Amino acid sequence: MSDSQAISAAVAKLYNTYPFPPEPLLDEPPPGYNWRWNWLTAYNFCTGQKPTRHNVRILDAGCGTGVGTEYLVHLNPDAAIVGIDLSAGALAVAKERCQKSGATGVEFHHLSLFDVEQLPGEFDLINCVGVLHHTPDPIRGIQALATKLAPGGILHIFVYGELGRWEIMLMQEAIALLQGDRRGDYTDGVQVGRQLFAALPEENRLRKRETERWSWENQRDGYFADMYVHPQEIDYNINTVFELIDASGLEFVGFSNPQVWELERLIGKAPELIERAKTLSDRQRYRLIELLDPQAITHYEFFLARTPLLQQNWLLDENLLAAIPEPSPCSQGWRDSRQFFNQDYQVVNLTEAEWQFLLACDGNPTQQKTVEQILQTIEASLAEVRSLQKQQLILLTPAAQ
Ligand SMILES: C[S@@+](CC[C@H](N)C(=O)[O-])C[C@H]1O[C@@H](n2cnc3c(N)ncnc32)[C@H](O)[C@@H]1O
Repeated sequence: MSDSQAISAAVAKLYNTYPFPPEPLLDEPPPGYNWRWNWLTAYNFCTGQKPTRHNVRILDAGCGTGVGTEYLVHLNPDAAIVGIDLSAGALAVAKERCQKSGATGVEFHHLSLFDVEQLPGEFDLINCVGVLHHTPDPIRGIQALATKLAPGGILHIFVYGELGRWEIMLMQEAIALLQGDRRGDYTDGVQVGRQLFAALPEENRLRKRETERWSWENQRDGYFADMYVHPQEIDYNINTVFELIDASGLEFVGFSNPQVWELERLIGKAPELIERAKTLSDRQRYRLIELLDPQAITHYEFFLARTPLLQQNWLLDENLLAAIPEPSPCSQGWRDSRQFFNQDYQVVNLTEAEWQFLLACDGNPTQQKTVEQILQTIEASLAEVRSLQKQQLILLTPAAQ
């Protein structure tokens, strides 16, 4: 067995022992949403416009027990979804989960992402969350996925960050040392890890980080095992994550948690420093942000695209006036109040004019009202439309489609 086969076998064994995520199965569609799993909103985020097609193909690569897959099926009723995973145990749970909640538009395959070429055709959206960093060769993994991405398609990736996880890395090594020959016995690893945390002084740095940041989810052994007794984990920083991205041959579209990557949230009080930072490249600015806020960078999540990706910036008034606007399917409570939850579950507070425009979009796209027609009926301007579009609160369909 090669090193890389041995790693994959160890990873499959972990997830057969502790299928991940260990979330309960439901008899109904899962509550809430995640806009990254809705083709309309993910595509809108990447391109500034609503996609023309709904009957797309979506791949969930490393689907685990199918929590994300189940959302993909329910949020994209016209799409054909495929889930693949290395762990037969995790896949069995994924199948049962989807069956129970009526998520029928999905097929599952027991397949490594390194063998993804065995699947027929290409995909418009590939979701690969929490997987590449557990493979023996993430660069080969991302390249394999890139070959299955259709032109104009988008790939959503989530990989771990080293700065926000360094206490975890230390604890992983400590547990492995104490396990000695029993490394690879994952239930023993969980037991050793739990004993260690209980024994460490309360003010101990590793214990404090676990208590403050992770312990709520780590109550379940499946989460604890995934975090502390994993046989394979590669953590990234901005430099190495962009090496991975560059090796994919795809275009970097943007982080899917863009608020984290705003320098203003850290040094907005010092406009002269913000001014200095304007000379930095994007990657240098991201590096500056993670250097200044290492605890926050526990992972990187981002979209890549296969060109050509048609992007719209809506700078031309005539294009914007002719577009058909509609409310994002991922905002909550906007019909009742100017203050509501946006797609990231953050409170937004619209101006009266923005809110009136949003309300007037209700019923679109069925009624096919253009921005121009709506603006004739309410007190709002193109500035408000652009603001709503930038905040991802409306989706715009260009005129010619
Ligand atoms: C942390 S879980 C993430 C599950 C799911 N994507 C989620 O976010 O809920 C990692 C999953 O990746 C799978 N995996 C690891 N290496 C893989 C590979 N080479 N090919 C396919 N799946 C893999 C594991 O079996 C496991 O189910």
